Amino acid sequence: MRTKQTIDFSTASCDYYFNASARRLDELVPRDRTVLVTDEHIFAHHQALFGDWNTIVLKPGEEHKNQDTVNAIISQLLEFEADRSWWIVGIGGGVITDLTGYVAGIYMRGLKFGFIPTSILAMVDASIGGKNGIDVGVYKNMVGLIRQPAFLLYDVDLLDSLPETEWVNGMAEVVKHACIKDAPMFKLLEENTLKGLKRDKALLARLIKRNALLKSKVVQADEFEKGERKLLNFGHTLGHAIENLYELPHGHAVSIGMTVACHLSEGFTGFSQTQRVVDVLDKYGLPTYAVFDAQKAWDILKMDKKRTASAMNYILLDRVGRAEVRSIPLEELQSLLFEFVTP
Ligand code: GLY
Repeated sequence: MRTKQTIDFSTASCDYYFNASARRLDELVPRDRTVLVTDEHIFAHHQALFGDWNTIVLKPGEEHKNQDTVNAIISQLLEFEADRSWWIVGIGGGVITDLTGYVAGIYMRGLKFGFIPTSILAMVDASIGGKNGIDVGVYKNMVGLIRQPAFLLYDVDLLDSLPETEWVNGMAEVVKHACIKDAPMFKLLEENTLKGLKRDKALLARLIKRNALLKSKVVQADEFEKGERKLLNFGHTLGHAIENLYELPHGHAVSIGMTVACHLSEGFTGFSQTQRVVDVLDKYGLPTYAVFDAQKAWDILKMDKKRTASAMNYILLDRVGRAEVRSIPLEELQSLLFEFVTP
């Protein structure tokens, strides 16, 4: 049964509709003043959803999360004669939610928007938190804003068409949440398998809701990333650096980033559960140890938004379920990274 939960952020509230049906979108927004934004894959798999709604269909893939696509969306909004009373609803994975949220924030200085996430990654992470932006070359999410959606609609049946690789991809953020905040969930992940989660839709829906609320509460406590919210970047500093460099799926890059962060944690916090984390990542089909060009990764990493003048705020684990932000001097971080890649 559909349940509604409202989370109040500093400048807006977001209604979360769990166990909902995407087909009932017209209960939330007016059909004649709404534009749906999706990609060709989602459009092809779920055509009935789009019916006679105004729809913008984009090419799929992170490589299109850029200014050219933003310009193309804006041109189509103008063709629909969308004004400030209109809604934009992103239906898709993280690329769609990022593009939709970003355009909704800048078109006519801001329209109301909502998301129907269609991937695990978007359901537990990308659609939540209000950070929406685009890439500039190899620099991930270099341009963007923080602005909360008005609603999120969760329909786990949409996952039926999700390719295996995307299930795996999304599990990286679930493992991340467990590592930084939720030791009991880490245990649940150890005791289950991806196959088991796919079979048991009720368990899957509960897991997605648990992750969505975990992230939402972290964001609620620190919307503009002054402290607590930084923890959500566990695995992402190196992850983002290698993601576009090697065109890796986001979850794979983050999984490699988490593995490296676990090893760095050993030296800084005395973390002693790296093998447990690596085993869970392995279990869900994610890569852990990878060979990459440390110099190229460093050149991108040092431009990370979490950098201060001479140090990087790196997210480390104290133990499974508890993380901390450590300011690591850039020189030290660089040599540790090079050591890790070339032991
Ligand atoms: N939209 C993703 C985030 O705010 O973290």
